[in-house]
Amino acid sequence: MKPTWLETQADDDKQLQSELRQAGAMPRHIAIIMDGNGRWAVERNLPRVAGHEEGIESVRDIVKAASQIGIECLTLYAFSMENWKRPRQEVSILMTLLEKYLRQEIRELHDNGVKLKSIGKTNALPKSVQKLLREGAEMTADNTGLTLTLALSYSGRWDIARAMQVMALDVRRGTLSPEDITEEKISSYLLTSGMPDPDLLIRTSGEKRLSNYLLWETAYAEMYITDALWPDFRRNDLYKSLLDYFGRERRFGKTSAQLLDSDNPKSECGYLQRLMNMFYAK
Ligand code: IPE
Ligand code: IPE
Ligand code: MG
Repeated sequence: MKPTWLETQADDDKQLQSELRQAGAMPRHIAIIMDGNGRWAVERNLPRVAGHEEGIESVRDIVKAASQIGIECLTLYAFSMENWKRPRQEVSILMTLLEKYLRQEIRELHDNGVKLKSIGKTNALPKSVQKLLREGAEMTADNTGLTLTLALSYSGRWDIARAMQVMALDVRRGTLSPEDITEEKISSYLLTSGMPDPDLLIRTSGEKRLSNYLLWETAYAEMYITDALWPDFRRNDLYKSLLDYFGRERRFGKTSAQLLDSDNPKSECGYLQRLMNMFYAK
């Protein structure tokens, strides 16, 4: 067995993560809209596929970093239902890259305690990908580390509509009564059921939209939008987003004065910023 991610983590990165953990309350669930692969490639006069390939390196680094720092759930938007409308050749390349990623990574994810899941209309994916997703989910089902969810052929509205259909069927069957349809009940019918709602929603490449991602679940997520293109987004950028998150006041409709200190543990980020600058001189 290869050494685990914790065993191979550089000392300075370990130190930085430990400082980050003490600086504020970690988000339980981070959701990311990984955008900008195409632009990354175009800027370099490369075909778009080169951006998708480099984007996979970012996925590897972010998954590893999230796992090492102890995040509970990481949900990555890898392919939207709308992305089926892209040129056939690009869709086909994306599916090939996805299959290759799963083939290469599932074992390593498992060895590092990651629980792999997928959400979306996955029966629209190539059979080979469906099989790998199923095997990966089965193999890692009992793992207790990071829950890594890949949103594939995903649409937030589609999931809500699908959940409504199932609920309607349950009402007809008599196993659900209309009075019991609460917000919690609706959450439990979504594909994200069992996961806490995202606390932090990151979008790369500067676009300021949700693109049909986790529409129900992100009701109170803190949004972090960075101009960095996804292939350039690595662990130092994740750490920056965490620092930014620690500085937010999550009021959930209340006034500042109503909040207990424990709701928003204040963090002293100046020291961390200096530490980050030291490690990443950029
Ligand atoms: C994100 O990068 C990857 C997917 C949507 C599959 P894009 O391919 O959307 O890159 P841009 O937005 O064209 O730069
Ligand atoms: C959103 O990115 C979907 C993924 C990141 C997988 P897009 O690049 O497809 O989003 P739009 O269409 O520009 O909003
Ligand atoms: Mg895009």
